[in-house]
Amino acid sequence: MDFSLSEEHLMIRDAARDFAKTELLPGVIERDTHQKFPHEQVKKMGELGFLGMMVDPQYGGGGMDTTSYVLAMEEISKIDASASVVMSVNNSLVCYGLQAYGTEEQKQKYLTRLATGASIGAFCLSEPEAGSDATSQRTTAIDKGDHYVLNGTKNWITNGGTADYYLVIAQTDKEKGHKGINALIVEKGWDGFEIGPKEDKLGIRGSDTHSLIFNDVKVPKENRIGEDGFGFKFAMKTLSGGRIGIAAQALGIASGAYELAREYSKVRKAFGTEICNHQAIAFKLADMHTSITAARHLIMKAAWDKDNGNNYDMSGAMAKLYASQVAMDVTVEAVQVHGGNGYVKEYHVERLMRDAKITQIYEGTSEIQKIVISRGLLRD
Ligand code: CAA
Repeated sequence: MDFSLSEEHLMIRDAARDFAKTELLPGVIERDTHQKFPHEQVKKMGELGFLGMMVDPQYGGGGMDTTSYVLAMEEISKIDASASVVMSVNNSLVCYGLQAYGTEEQKQKYLTRLATGASIGAFCLSEPEAGSDATSQRTTAIDKGDHYVLNGTKNWITNGGTADYYLVIAQTDKEKGHKGINALIVEKGWDGFEIGPKEDKLGIRGSDTHSLIFNDVKVPKENRIGEDGFGFKFAMKTLSGGRIGIAAQALGIASGAYELAREYSKVRKAFGTEICNHQAIAFKLADMHTSITAARHLIMKAAWDKDNGNNYDMSGAMAKLYASQVAMDVTVEAVQVHGGNGYVKEYHVERLMRDAKITQIYEGTSEIQKIVISRGLLRD
């Protein structure tokens, strides 16, 4: 067993680390405070190849493995989890979904732009009553021969206002349950497609989360992904990989907070010495580092499963379940190590604590991950 990273992996990790420090760190507090989307920074992420990392180079992507992707996700998320969720949705849900299941025409028309960051994508599954219970789609895509007519509302859609292309999951035939669901590519600006108000969120406030309203939107049949009725499986398969990306985001949030707490503890003095010399603080750092390392190993295993053609439903769910809990625990402790300063924006840890919570909710709550894991365990 070899735990070392290759030269190439180290280069990708270092490039992401440099980008995060030089381009994302300077305005991160202001973007969080005013809910400003990182337009310029996302554009640069596209130019550097961070938005289509695993896409085949023939479609403009980086042709990298999942390990490279999680290394970059961790580094970006240490500094700015709002930027990293844009990266995660574009890479793992939208680009992956189109590369794995799209037609050649769909890849040429949409994937080539998404992989380079020339266009941004959104993944639209959640509804007011179909967040966890994803088969209960109320949005309908009625078959009209050469096109579908799309009606309904989607909620909490990441990149909702800024995306150019939207992968929309909708019910075509209710009688068929999950086998009556389709995934359609919808373009911004099509008649009847309206972007609802932006959500005012607890965390990842620099990201752009909206509801979407579809009112008799005409979607050509050639924009359906896969065979008729493949939409639910498309969503499940795509989300399985997405969960590895969100696990890496959670890891980055945790490791960013841990590093800040460790450095702070080496300079802040109390009772005549730096606070890291008190066991109350040193033991917190030991616990943080241990759980972060365990989360990293679960994530690397899930990435390895994906890259080696193994089933990664369970390993991805375990990685997300554990890493998102670690993100919560570590960020709360990082605020505690900082004392009063931890509660103040300029020290960054309060933002990381607020950002951590979403990793236990999106791309399946922690409870959903336990359903996926327990079903996997009990399948045979
Ligand atoms: N791969 C392939 N097929 C799969 C699959 C997978 N990972 N998971 C399920 N399926 C298949 C099943 O085999 C079954 O097919 P058959 O009938 O042919 O055997 C079919 O799909 C239905 O499966 P289930 O009976 O298991 O479905 P279920 O209704 O019990 O739901 C669930 C399972 C795991 C709870 C699922 O509903 C789920 O994952 N829910 C959470 C959805 C989610 O993650 N939402 C987040 C929104 S996206 C987001 O957050 C993006 C963002 O903005 C960041």
